[in-house]
Amino acid sequence: MASQLVVRACPPFRVRGQDSTEAVAGLERSARRLLDGAELERARGMVQPARSDFLAGRIAQRLFAAELLGVRAEDLAASYTCPQCGSGAAISHGTPGYTRAGAPVPLLLSLSRAAGWTLLAAVLQPAPKQRLGVDAEDPQLMEFDGFDAVALTPAERQALAPLTGSALLRERARLWARKEAFLKMTGEGLRRAPQTLDVLDRHGVRDLGPAESGLPGHLAAAVAFG
Ligand SMILES: CC(C)(COP(=O)(O)OP(=O)(O)OC[C@H]1O[C@@H](n2cnc3c(N)ncnc32)[C@H](O)[C@@H]1OP(=O)(O)O)[C@@H](O)C(=O)NCCC(=O)NCCS
Repeated sequence: MASQLVVRACPPFRVRGQDSTEAVAGLERSARRLLDGAELERARGMVQPARSDFLAGRIAQRLFAAELLGVRAEDLAASYTCPQCGSGAAISHGTPGYTRAGAPVPLLLSLSRAAGWTLLAAVLQPAPKQRLGVDAEDPQLMEFDGFDAVALTPAERQALAPLTGSALLRERARLWARKEAFLKMTGEGLRRAPQTLDVLDRHGVRDLGPAESGLPGHLAAAVAFG
């Protein structure tokens, strides 16, 4: 049976709580209960609102993984992989993953945060060598001089040349989401120069519309899987 992609959008933590002090305290309690030492250590260097966004995303990812695997979230141990730093319990950045009772769980995972939202993607029981990347982008952040030069290939720049205003920002966000999804899938991230990666028509990369992603319609999203 073909491996199934599952996508889930989690709303911004910042607008969920009525009382923000109480909501942050609750989030911190959940983080201490659910997250691992390396994850909490990484959060220690963060200031608000990045800290709460980080913790909320990591908690959502762990609950999502536990639900798909049919296990308790407390029984999972985070195990990230960075091409530079390696993998295991002490690594808290790079490609996400979990172990259970010391063994890697059969789940591909990818996460992205945009405009306070967390977008999660997973594939349960992946085939050997399958990889996954997901990304979400806010078009409002795509308005700066030099974006096209640092982010787009010559063919992509040509495709965007007729566009202006919100249509241009929307298309920049769409292509940037495709690039980051692909670069998460390969594990390279932005170590690879994005202006050398053409994603106009790249095999394995596709846009995620709001009906599939669950994100608000103004955000762009993409998935890379293969
Ligand atoms: C991958 C990358 C492009 C995403 O950055 P972003 O757009 O700011 O953030 P997003 O919210 O879309 O995604 C963040 C998630 O991407 C994932 N991610 C990070 N690096 C990744 C990699 N190399 N491969 C796959 N996924 C990765 C993580 O799940 C991360 O979530 P976290 O913040 O909970 O750890 C960026 O982190 C990157 O280029 N990383 C590589 C460089 C690097 O990590 N250098 C320092 C380590 S030595």
